[in-house]
Amino acid sequence: MNKSREVEIEVTSTIPAPESGSALCLCVFEDGSLIANTEFDGLLKSAMRNNGFKGEVETISFFHAVTGDNDMRRVCLIGCGAVKDLTPHVLRRAAASAVRRVAAAGIRHIHFVLPQSPDEIRMARAVSEGAILGSYDGGLFKNDVSDDVHVERFTIVCDDSSDGLRRAVLEGRIVSESANWTRMLSDMPGRDLPPQEFARRAAEMAEEFGLTVESLDVGQIQERGMGGLLGVGKGSDQPPALIVLRYEPDDADTDDLWAFVGKGITFDTGGISLKHGPDMYEMKADMAGGAAVLGAMRAIAAIKPRQKVIGIVPAAENMPSGRAIKPGDVIKTLAGYTIEVVDTDAEGRLVLVDGIAYAKQLGASRIVDLATLTGSIIVALGDHRSGLFSNNDEWANQVTAAADRAGEPVWRMPVSDDYKKRIESEVADFKNYGGRPDATGAALLLSKFALETPWVHLDIAGTSWYDESQPYAPKGSSGTGVRTLVELVCSPSNRSSGLT
Ligand code: BES
Ligand code: MG
Ligand code: ZN
Repeated sequence: MNKSREVEIEVTSTIPAPESGSALCLCVFEDGSLIANTEFDGLLKSAMRNNGFKGEVETISFFHAVTGDNDMRRVCLIGCGAVKDLTPHVLRRAAASAVRRVAAAGIRHIHFVLPQSPDEIRMARAVSEGAILGSYDGGLFKNDVSDDVHVERFTIVCDDSSDGLRRAVLEGRIVSESANWTRMLSDMPGRDLPPQEFARRAAEMAEEFGLTVESLDVGQIQERGMGGLLGVGKGSDQPPALIVLRYEPDDADTDDLWAFVGKGITFDTGGISLKHGPDMYEMKADMAGGAAVLGAMRAIAAIKPRQKVIGIVPAAENMPSGRAIKPGDVIKTLAGYTIEVVDTDAEGRLVLVDGIAYAKQLGASRIVDLATLTGSIIVALGDHRSGLFSNNDEWANQVTAAADRAGEPVWRMPVSDDYKKRIESEVADFKNYGGRPDATGAALLLSKFALETPWVHLDIAGTSWYDESQPYAPKGSSGTGVRTLVELVCSPSNRSSGLT
């Protein structure tokens, strides 16, 4: 069912003569410049004159052009905005948009001319990432594949053919293939990906990529006292699971263990506090944080940084039933604290506190959690930035910088006891819901379990899902978080000999 396409990515220094099956993609800037081969200047000017194409970001012009020697060439101009604003992020989206546009015209090969820039290696990596991301197809269950053409070869045209550039292109491919794997899991219907199937797929991936798996079943979850995960999973016929993947390279620089914890609610009905409204189907992607953690582990296993990392995904289905947890019930968490469940739809925090406590038990020295946690973060930040909450400025800055480099921007939000009324309970140590704004209340509750361990929480409820199709992506899961986590771990100082 994985419809993510195989795309071959190559690097070459010359633009070939026009071929019937290939489209030439050129980045165009708002001042009309190409920052590349002037040999196409005439072509560009006529396109801008004839189509009114101005080079604005997220605009595309696709046409047949007659070149100097009377050959026909298919040309795809991709608007990249102002030259001074050129970043890898702009090129990542440009490449993804080009792949989608060219495939829609039935063409299977792209020559993508890399604009000249002082940082060609990072730019080439971003283009490689975009080429793979743009090839993601969310139509997992479509029968009609008659006009289903996809780009099979993506040739980056640039002068640099160094090993550094080739390696960057290869890493870009790995991270985006992993992000597409994450998107495929997130887009799967709840019926097809209950917690145990989620765990089985994680184990299958771990086997393929050489990671260690140590998942817990419902009996072990109960035995260890993970009352949050157990409580949320109780209403469902599908038992919960706790997925644990380990990456422990022999050449790790230190014994420092970083833990990534992802919310793995395979479907969120809200439980007894049942959700309503036409958007409930989107809750099939309420495990996007967990899938992003697994996708990041997949890429990390392939890139091989010198950093021990563990991925933890508490997975459950939140359902109403005669066995389900009820509003007013009190659960006892792995850390020992009790939580009054005021609203069973605030379930993500209940499974995450057990995930965070387990990360600490396993010796985590730093934690990042990712979760489609609250609707209120969407009200605050929309779908462009994830909310970042943290108890440690240095760790928060490190994650923010990695997110910026990865093109998955975040915005820091407060975690402080000013908001403590929202989590104070009359009957238990904490309660799980205390009114709006809820993103801060949820984060404050998580912080009470992270305690002294440097911790970052990313609320990805707005960024994990495209409400509509974009030039660079179809409607559905975005795979957000994978690139940030990989960037965080695979900074140049953490790299071993790694890929060859
Ligand atoms: N999974 C949802 C949050 C969510 C909402 C993710 C929209 C993606 C898109 C979470 O479990 C939830 O239900 N949150 C509630 C909490 C409230 C009822 C206490 C919310 O934010 O409305
Ligand atoms: Mg919920
Ligand atoms: Zn949820």
